[in-house]
Amino acid sequence: MEEKNMNIPNHVAIILDGNGRWAKKRKMPRNYGHTQGSKVLEKICEEAYKIGIKYLTVYAFSTENWIRPKEEVDALMKLLRNYLSTSIKTSMKNNMKVRIIGDKSALPEDMQESIRKLEEATVNNSGLHFQVAINYGGRDEIIRAVKAISQDIKMNKMDINDIDVTVFERYLDTADIPDPDLLIRTSGEVRLSNFLLWQLAYTEFYFPEVLWPDFNKEELWKAVEYYNGRKRKFGGVS
Ligand code: FPP
Repeated sequence: MEEKNMNIPNHVAIILDGNGRWAKKRKMPRNYGHTQGSKVLEKICEEAYKIGIKYLTVYAFSTENWIRPKEEVDALMKLLRNYLSTSIKTSMKNNMKVRIIGDKSALPEDMQESIRKLEEATVNNSGLHFQVAINYGGRDEIIRAVKAISQDIKMNKMDINDIDVTVFERYLDTADIPDPDLLIRTSGEVRLSNFLLWQLAYTEFYFPEVLWPDFNKEELWKAVEYYNGRKRKFGGVS
């Protein structure tokens, strides 16, 4: 299939999997895989936008990841903290609009402050919309939305009969962001692991064997090619 004839997905979601195995294969600590994985992610953001992807959402740290060994959690937090505090410059240069999804209230205060600054600085950028899931879980997101709706009903800001799909979506972390067209999970694992449970209802799924730190432009094109080979269906209509 020729690249110019490709239908490019508007929103791609990625579960960045395989960092640990990639490092192990090289007899290196798992954290080396995460560091390499974050470098690859920066390149993929640029590539994705170049080929016409408008929204990219990645799973960086789940609500379940806290139970990993302390050393690994600390290293991941260090990587994310560093990304949050240093990426304003690159995001502005690349015209990227960044949003962090997940329960931010459970993150250390300095990270919350960096998130506020990064989101504020990039809010008017019109390039790639880049969503990073940190302390994110799909079930947790839905429960937080239900609590916020219940609160609004209690305060008489809303009536119970007003709740429908459109209203509910306004309470999710992804409010105003279109649902993903394509989900990629690298490393051959075929699971959702609590990622975007609501938003992936009609998404096409692609599970390549490649480990995340080996993902590159060619792999991204393979995913787009796969997407082009699928006939999308929304409730029976192609
Ligand atoms: C899964 O691989 C990966 C993670 C839990 C972390 C992913 C995070 C990053 C790549 C960093 C994101 C960074 C930025 C800057 C947003 P795994 O450790 O489960 O790998 P394994 O299955 O091979 O053990």
